[in-house]
Amino acid sequence: MHSRRIEAPSRMRGSIDIPGDKSISHRAVMFNALAHGSARITHFLTGADCLATIACLRALGVAIEQEGDTVVVHGCGSAGLREAADVLDCGNSGTTMRLLAGVLAGCDGRFSVLSGDASLRSRPQRRIVAPLRALGAQIDGRDGGERAPLAIRGSRLHAGSYDLPIASAQVKSALLLAALCAGVPLDLGGRIDGRDHTERMLRGMGVALALEDGRLRLTPGAALQPCSLRVPGDPSSAAFWWVAAAIHPDAEITTRGVGMNASRGGALEVLQAMGADLTVSALRTEGDEPVADVTVRSSALRGTTIEGAIIPRLIDELPVLAVAAACARGTTVVRDAQELRAKETDRISTVVGGLRALGVAVDAADDGFRIDGGRRLAGTALSSHGDHRLAMAWAVAALAAHEAVLIGDAGAVDVSYPAFWATLEQLGAA
Ligand code: S3P
Repeated sequence: MHSRRIEAPSRMRGSIDIPGDKSISHRAVMFNALAHGSARITHFLTGADCLATIACLRALGVAIEQEGDTVVVHGCGSAGLREAADVLDCGNSGTTMRLLAGVLAGCDGRFSVLSGDASLRSRPQRRIVAPLRALGAQIDGRDGGERAPLAIRGSRLHAGSYDLPIASAQVKSALLLAALCAGVPLDLGGRIDGRDHTERMLRGMGVALALEDGRLRLTPGAALQPCSLRVPGDPSSAAFWWVAAAIHPDAEITTRGVGMNASRGGALEVLQAMGADLTVSALRTEGDEPVADVTVRSSALRGTTIEGAIIPRLIDELPVLAVAAACARGTTVVRDAQELRAKETDRISTVVGGLRALGVAVDAADDGFRIDGGRRLAGTALSSHGDHRLAMAWAVAALAAHEAVLIGDAGAVDVSYPAFWATLEQLGAA
């Protein structure tokens, strides 16, 4: 529960290797565990969330070697997963819990319990429990299946069709994995516009997964082929440096090797619309994903409206985009982002509370917030509330504040970006 006191340096220059993508790191170990054979994953994110996925898979009998950011997974197929001897601890990680729930629901005959920290146990799970039950899964949890711990008795599932009411990649992935492990066809429609890393990776591993007329159709059959890969840099981590450079009066920061998947591209588009001075260069492909370097310089930002279809493409970046909005001239309105309330904290109330402490004029709504930006931020003491993205968003805000900002529970960054504070120090912020 340590604190960090951040003072803005007068000048920031840097070139930063962005750590591996959290979503892709989880999927790379989990999907390879379900394959038959070995795969080597490099530039794996060693954040606490992805380490929780490794620990759970090991508890299920998967042999996994890890040295730094290189991980070798010896896949045993879903049939090779054994019953874990204890509760599977997903820590703070919604992706671990929801994707594994899908896998385990489809593993006939094995019983599992998934739990996690207080934040994860407070987050909604009916979004996966209800559609998994509709496929025949035996899954239950507190509050009628809404909250973890989740108890799952793996069973024979049947083919199904489901329209997603919210654009959640975790829900989409849980259902695809359940059908895959159970060997049954699945047809998904509705809000399938969440990030598409699962679809890309499963196709790359030989799964027949078609996108036709706005519906995803999984046809079971072929065994999963192992897939070695280098994990691209996480755009959700890079976004902190993009905003840091844009709001600081004398900055130029290059983030190297950042994933450019369009389903994650909303923050760059919004920063561009806000007038950020940014350049995308060296576009290339790594594995099944596009990657580039992104350079951002000090910018005169202006307010904007963020709503509708772009929301799932930048949902994790909204805390730091709110900091950009606080430093932008004019008004920024965020709508259609009620999903923020279901994240590691209720990010509408925690973002609004933090911005107010920084002296920003901000109003909360059910599905977002409105920020009147452009005034210099005040020094203050803020808490991360144990939320990694808040800890980092407040550190970025400190770079535009006229006095030091004290951030409580700063260790929360370990969930997705263990090197964050060291990188900030390299950029000159104490
Ligand atoms: C994730 C999907 C998103 C995102 C989360 C990671 C994933 O959540 O917020 O940080 O890896 O699938 P939802 O699927 O609930 O939108």
